[in-house]
Amino acid sequence: MRPPTRQEAIDAEGPFDLRIKKGGKLHHYQLRYHPFDVVGWDGHMYPYAISIHDFEPITGLIHMPPPVHQMFEGSGFVVCSFVPRMFSYHPRSVPAPYNHSNIDSDEVLFYAEGEFMSRRGISRGSFSLHPGGIPHGPHPGATEGSLGKERTEELAVMVDTFRSLRLTENALAVEDPDYAYSWLPERHEDGDVPDAGVHGGGSPAGDGQAPQREPEAPEPSA
Ligand SMILES: [Fe+2]
Repeated sequence: MRPPTRQEAIDAEGPFDLRIKKGGKLHHYQLRYHPFDVVGWDGHMYPYAISIHDFEPITGLIHMPPPVHQMFEGSGFVVCSFVPRMFSYHPRSVPAPYNHSNIDSDEVLFYAEGEFMSRRGISRGSFSLHPGGIPHGPHPGATEGSLGKERTEELAVMVDTFRSLRLTENALAVEDPDYAYSWLPERHEDGDVPDAGVHGGGSPAGDGQAPQREPEAPEPSA
C-alpha cells in the first residue's frame, strides 16, 4: 500500500465548485478559495492506494473458498481480485469453479486480462453481471478442460453487493442479449473449450460461493 505523495497547497481564489454526496443525494457548494489550500488534515480518514499487481492470493492443496480473493470490504459489498496464481495442487483437484447461484449477492466482474479470452461472450474489458440466485458457472467442457492445469494468468476484479443492483440506461445499451444462452451445449459443439478461469468459463476464481455476509468473499463467477 502506498500513501499519497505530498502536494503543495493550492492558494488560488475561485470560485470553485464542490459537490458533496450525503444520504444518497448530491449537494452543490461554491467555494471562494480552492479546497486544497491546506497543509494537512485531521481525522480518521486517510487515503491510500494499492495495486492489484501487489495482491497475493491464498492457494492450497484443494480448491480455496472465494474469500481468499477478497481485497476490500465496505458497507454492503466486497471487492475481490482474481490474479495470476497456482491452481490447487492435489493431483485430483478440479481447477474450474463449480456452478452456483450466490443467493446472497449480485456479482459484477470486470475482465482485464487472462484466459477468459476463450470464454464465450467474454473478452478483455467485458463486464458480467450475475444477479443473486441466477445459476451460473463453467461453460460446457470448461470443467473437463481445466483438469491438469497448474496455474492461471487471469486478471479480473469482482464486486459483490448484498443488495440488488439496478442497471442504468448506459449499461442496458451495451448489454449482450445472447449472454444468457452462452451455456447452451449447442453453442460449444465446435470443440472450442473455454478455459477455466474466473467465472463462467471457468476460472477457479469465482468459485461459486456467495460471499458471506460479514466480509464474505465471493467468487468471480459473477
Ligand atoms: Fe458467481
